[in-house]
Amino acid sequence: MRILLFTGKGGVGKTTLAAATAARVARAGRKALVVSADPAHSLGDALDAPLDAEPTEVGPGLFAAHLDNRALLEGAWGELRGHLRTVLAGAGVDELVADELTWLPGVEELLALGEVQRLAGTGLWDVVIVDCGPTAETLRLLGLPEAIGGYLERLYPAHRRAVRGLLAGIASGKTGAPNGSLDWDGAADALGRLAEQVAALRAMLADHDSTSIRLVLTPERLVAAESRRTMTALALHGLRVDGIIANRMVPPIAPSTWGPAARWVRARHAEQQEVLGELSALWSGCDGGAVRVVPYTAAEPIGLTALAELGDEVYGEDEPLAGADAPPLLSVRRTGGDGIALDSEFELALRLPGLDRRTPLELTRIDDDLAVTVGGVRRLVALPSVLCRCEVLGARVGTDRLAVMFRPDPSVWKTRGATRTGPKATP
Ligand SMILES: Nc1ncnc2c1ncn2[C@@H]1O[C@H](COP(=O)(O)OP(=O)(O)OP(=O)(O)O)[C@@H](O)[C@H]1O
Ligand SMILES: [Mg+2]
Repeated sequence: MRILLFTGKGGVGKTTLAAATAARVARAGRKALVVSADPAHSLGDALDAPLDAEPTEVGPGLFAAHLDNRALLEGAWGELRGHLRTVLAGAGVDELVADELTWLPGVEELLALGEVQRLAGTGLWDVVIVDCGPTAETLRLLGLPEAIGGYLERLYPAHRRAVRGLLAGIASGKTGAPNGSLDWDGAADALGRLAEQVAALRAMLADHDSTSIRLVLTPERLVAAESRRTMTALALHGLRVDGIIANRMVPPIAPSTWGPAARWVRARHAEQQEVLGELSALWSGCDGGAVRVVPYTAAEPIGLTALAELGDEVYGEDEPLAGADAPPLLSVRRTGGDGIALDSEFELALRLPGLDRRTPLELTRIDDDLAVTVGGVRRLVALPSVLCRCEVLGARVGTDRLAVMFRPDPSVWKTRGATRTGPKATP
């Protein structure tokens, strides 16, 4: 089972490159399924083929589908919501309120991810390629199994019996109804199934052999800045980025060409090359290898033929599914306190290949970034949100590794403490 997720800033070419990659896999004689998990489905437009929720073969070995979030919502989740509504109504909760309470934010996207897993699990395709939509949504999507997993663990602790007893207790206490009159077992079982599915999704995302992410970008300053933050965030989520694709590269122009159009192309080309240079240094520093580059084609790459040509441009004779096995760029761990109180301490560990104690190193905090200058090369690292509210205590250099110690900054930390502590649950 191989799952490849395409993400990047809005409009950079995610849909196009997800489809082109699938076309390239199919051209090599394997079966590829490309699906769009982005509610603004444009995969059909890129492939120039009508698509629906059922995978259809749009070319030899190339299948495509638009995931239908609404239908997914009405299916499995509908059953669980029904059970939960019954439980809440039994506990005396107003019907409208019960309806609101059973609405779990993000569940649509979660179901889409579950559908990807199901499709991959059928074994019908060598790879399922997912057009995930813009980065912010993708990060939310990929963080969901963990967030919802935690929520379910609180709502439904591992001991099913305890919850059943609790639910039955609530109902008989509030309504006096005999325990057997409502479907407690059904509700508890449905919650249990959801918890299992969420756990399976977490396992799928954490399995770096099967699941990886390909980051698409255009070499522009703003896009590169977002991509850097995305890489940090993905590393923090424990996800594997296996490649970076720089799309819409403007070609070089002969020095003898002149005129306003030539000036524009020359300036754009120079700017793109500079940004590409910085991105390449960052990516190869993470053992990522080379950034793949894709030319800005004169005509929009729409339809199978154009996409297959683009796929050839991107991968040449390389294996399109192979990618870098880069370990996470950075990791954060708590080294002191409880993570909430002001005396907590955190350590940010950065993988910096080639670093040792003799390497000249400089650290500067710039708002929510940490500028790391090693041997004259500067890298701006977007700090994970918890560290944005901290001040730097010091740093330690090890081989290929830099550890930076942080402590909560009292002037901004209290907000977090307040939200974290929250109201105590009443028994
Ligand atoms: N290499 C390329 N050369 C020329 N045009 C391209 C190239 N790649 C993509 N395009 C065009 O750029 C536009 C945006 O591409 P695409 O829809 O793939 O981006 P996206 O990242 O999926 O956008 P969204 O964030 O809206 O989903 C489309 O019109 C597409 O045909
Ligand atoms: Mg798109």
